Parts: sequence; structure tokens; C-alpha cells
Amino acid sequence: MVNEHKPGWAGKTILHEAQMDSTNEEAKRAGNAGADHGTVYRADVQSAGKGRRGRSWYSHEAGNLYFSILLRPAISPDKASMLTLVMAYAVAGAIREYIGLPAQIKWPNDIVVNDKKVCGILCEMKLDGTRLDYCVAGVGVNVGKQEFAEEIRSMATSLEEQLGGPIDREGLLQAILGRFERGYEEFLHCEDLSFLREEYNEWLANLNRQVRVLEPQGAYEGMSKGITSTGELLVECPDGQVQKVYAGEVSVRGLYGYV
Ligand code: BTN
Repeated sequence: MVNEHKPGWAGKTILHEAQMDSTNEEAKRAGNAGADHGTVYRADVQSAGKGRRGRSWYSHEAGNLYFSILLRPAISPDKASMLTLVMAYAVAGAIREYIGLPAQIKWPNDIVVNDKKVCGILCEMKLDGTRLDYCVAGVGVNVGKQEFAEEIRSMATSLEEQLGGPIDREGLLQAILGRFERGYEEFLHCEDLSFLREEYNEWLANLNRQVRVLEPQGAYEGMSKGITSTGELLVECPDGQVQKVYAGEVSVRGLYGYV
């Protein structure tokens, strides 16, 4: 394991290994053992990478960026889900600024380039009674050119494929961490997403597109109208009513189909 010290608290210590089971799991073990706020766990490959909703995240090929950051915010647990959007905003901003690709956000936390997914984010939290003990924000970026599995080929791409040239993963990681650190501090100050809302909505792949909201009670469709300052997606239904979507899966027509 190599320790790299960088300026700023986000990623001041980066624990980088060739392989981990999952950087989120590594960060959670470290969180349970009392590791510091801002420590980053990074792996070149993961043997058991995790995606959202219990899915696995294929991460056996080197050339991508897999990391998780351990956070100990003094906020109420019901605000922790906003950290996912803070990270999505940091990743999209870093891809736009550092690489120059027109990254967009598929609410709440996928990053797409030219309507294909280049990054997924998985945030997990641990409670201590009713208090938030820690959060882990895990980020998987498809950086290197690669063959995607048949079932995701039409939906996934990589930054190098989109750019048509090599990308420095270290530089990208630092660009993400720098932006995340600034966003996190603003978020803790106001405890909402008002500081990023306007730009997040500008970068929203779903904006003014037909979406299908999949909720446990059933599915409905409407026009996505952007996020609120607490991170919910506003969806205007055909009857003119505007729903606030807190959870569940939103699929964007033409982007991911209705899956
Ligand atoms: C998703 O889109 O379903 C979220 C994928 C999150 C993948 C990243 S890779 C780094 C971190 N470690 C994990 O096991 N998962 C996240």
C-alpha cells in the first residue's frame, strides 16, 4: 500500500492498492476502526465492486478510476443523501474542466458523456444510534478504453473513448477531490444544495426530457424539471402536477430507455 500526501483534507491521505474487494468496503472497515475524515481508498481493480441497488460493478480491468472517500460530517442522517449529488457535481465539473468533455449528470448520480454512462457513484452511511457516524462516497469512472459487457454496451462508454486520447488518472482524481472538497464545505455551511443547484441543472442530462419514475407503488411518467435545493428531482406529470422524486429510479427516454 502506498501513502500519498496531497494538500487539502480531501485525499490528504490516499491509500492506494493494486486490488481491493471494494473501495467502499475498505473505507467502511477503516471508518469502523476510526480512520480520519477525508481519507481516500483507491484500487486499480476491485474483486467485488458494488453498484447501487445491490448490483455488482464490474471493475476487474485496470485503467479506470475506483476510489472511495471517508467522510464524518456533523449533519443529520436525513441530509446525507445530498452528498451523492455533491460528488456527482464534483465529478462532472472535473471531467468538464480537466478533460474538456461535455459531462452531464443523470440524476441523482450517474455521469454521462454523449448520453452514455462514464461514472457511477455509490454513497453509504453508518449510523451510531440516531447520529451519523460516517459516510462513504464511492466513485467508479470508466477512464480507459475497454470492451463493455453486451448488456451495457449501448449505455456505457469511457472517457478515453470519448476523448480519443490518453487521460491522466492521477490528475483526474485530484481534480475531483479538489472540487469535492470545495463543494462539501459549501454544503456543510448551508446544509443544502442551493450553491450548486443552478449549475447542476444546467448539466442535467434529464432536464426537460421525458422520464419514467419507478417507485415501489408503481411507475409514472412526466417531464423532468430539474432539482430542488435539497436534491429532489421535480417531475411534471401530464395533469400538470409536479411531483418531487426522493428515491426510486428515474430512467430517461433516449438515454437509458425504460429499463
Ligand atoms: C452505480 O452506478 O451503480 C454505482 C457504482 C459505484 C462504483 C464505485 S467503484 C468505487 C466504489 N467501490 C465500490 O464497490 N463501488 C464504488
